[in-house]
Amino acid sequence: MRAAEIQDDLTQILVTEEQIKAKLEELAARVAADYEGKDLVLVGVLKGAIMVMADFARALPFHAPMDWMAVSSYGASTKSSGVVQIRKDLDTDLHGKHVLIVEDIIDSGLTLSWLLENFESRGAESIEVLALLRKPEAAKVEIDCKYVGFDIPVEFVVGYGLDYAERYRNLRDVAVLAPHVYS
Ligand code: XMP
Ligand code: MG
Repeated sequence: MRAAEIQDDLTQILVTEEQIKAKLEELAARVAADYEGKDLVLVGVLKGAIMVMADFARALPFHAPMDWMAVSSYGASTKSSGVVQIRKDLDTDLHGKHVLIVEDIIDSGLTLSWLLENFESRGAESIEVLALLRKPEAAKVEIDCKYVGFDIPVEFVVGYGLDYAERYRNLRDVAVLAPHVYS
C-alpha cells in the first residue's frame, strides 16, 4: 500500500509517535520505581503489543526478561468475544515472579480478564497490567490496569502495532480506521 492510499483509510490521528514516546518514558520511570530490586518479567501479548514492548522495554533503566503469549478471541473481526484460545504459550514459569503484562489496548477488557485469571493460576507473585491505550466506554469488565497510556474514544484504531487484517501495524502513530475499510 502506498502512503496516499493509507491516508484515505484513516479518519484521524489520535496519538502521535512523539506522544507515545513521551508517555512510555513516563510509564517506564514509574515501573522502574515500583519494581526496584524485584524479579520483573514482561509479558507481551502478540502481536499488537510488539511496538509497545520494544519501546517500553528500552525506556526501562534495567533488564527485564521478555516473554510472549499469543491468544486469539473468536468473533467478528473488530470486536472481542471473550472466548480466548492460547495460540502460543509462555516459555517462562511465572511461579514467584512479578509479572507485568504489556498490552496495546484494553477494549472490552475480556481478553485481559481471561489472561489475568489464567496467570493467577500459575502462581505469579504479583500481576499488573500496562496498556498503551484504553477505551473506558467500551468496558464489559473492569480491568485494574495500573499503567495506562491514553484513554481513547470507542473507535477502531490502528497503527503502532495495532492492525486491521494484518495491515497498518507499521504506522508510527495511532489513528482511527475509516469505517469504509471494514464495513
Ligand atoms: P478486548 O475487547 O478483549 O480486546 O479488550 C482485546 C484485543 O482486541 C484487539 N483490539 C483492537 N485492535 N484496534 C485494533 O487494531 C482496536 O481498536 C482494537 N480494540 C481491540 C487488541 O488486540 C486487543 O488486545
Ligand atoms: Mg492485543
